[in-house]
Amino acid sequence: MKGIILAGGEGSRLYPTSIIYSKQLTMIYDKPMIYYPLSVLMLVGIRDILIISNDETILFYEKLFKDGSQFGLSFSYSIQDKPRGLADAFLIGEKFISDDSVTMILGDNIFYGKLDFIRNAVKLNKGATVFGYYVKDPQRYGVIEFDENGKVISIEEKPKKPKSNFAIVGLYIYNNDVIEIAKKLKPSTRGELEITDINKEYLKLNKLKVELFGRGIAWLDTGTPQSLLEASTFIGAVEHRQDLKIACIEEVAYMMDFISRKELKELINKMPNCSYKSYLIKIFSNTHMHNRYQK
Ligand code: G1P
Repeated sequence: MKGIILAGGEGSRLYPTSIIYSKQLTMIYDKPMIYYPLSVLMLVGIRDILIISNDETILFYEKLFKDGSQFGLSFSYSIQDKPRGLADAFLIGEKFISDDSVTMILGDNIFYGKLDFIRNAVKLNKGATVFGYYVKDPQRYGVIEFDENGKVISIEEKPKKPKSNFAIVGLYIYNNDVIEIAKKLKPSTRGELEITDINKEYLKLNKLKVELFGRGIAWLDTGTPQSLLEASTFIGAVEHRQDLKIACIEEVAYMMDFISRKELKELINKMPNCSYKSYLIKIFSNTHMHNRYQK
């Protein structure tokens, strides 16, 4: 299973910061936003990851993650020169995906909670698996309509009159057919290759599975200054209360056994003195915690 993080888009709702800064690099409490979706892929067990961004920003991701081997991962980088839509990622990533299946996560989607079900969904996926989340403003998203037996009847992108409150979150699991399906897409009225059109095709073929995120999961929005502040406050509150970090990728790599104790130590030694480093020293010293980690 390959992983793609799409960190595209213009982030125009964050203007004027968006002139110089990519949204997915924005700090959410104590680390760049992209750490959160990256940690989800890692926790699912995905280690071969393609990051897609524009030509100006991709350099920053390369600087952040290099080839990924220091985290026991393998990173590739590709450029999306124009925001051509989410589905464009499967055309850009065709070579990278090769004959494998792929999980794509959007670089601005933050999930928090017990996410084991995603790992199972990845294992069990046959065609496509997408996830629904109850929101108050479904018209901003891809929306799922169910019949009275819970069967999916339709999926619509940003409908004016949503047929349910269930939005599709930015995490998609596909078999290899996604490449051919993406190749046949036509741009929508907003000029983009829509991921919703891919999902509709899988639905037509009866190969779409929809799982719902339970109430214990947070899916945080990061599109506006206010939602960025709220996401930071949420992460900060949980981290401060527990003195445990969310999406600390060095910790995740160690807990998942992607890197050894020795490699974690090397990463720590390279860090400047800061609370992030002190935290990792604590994780390093607490072998009990490592052994108790549920993989
Ligand atoms: C995109 C998708 C939409 C999905 C959302 C999740 O929206 O088109 O179906 O619900 O991501 O974040 P966009 O970011 O293009 O507004």
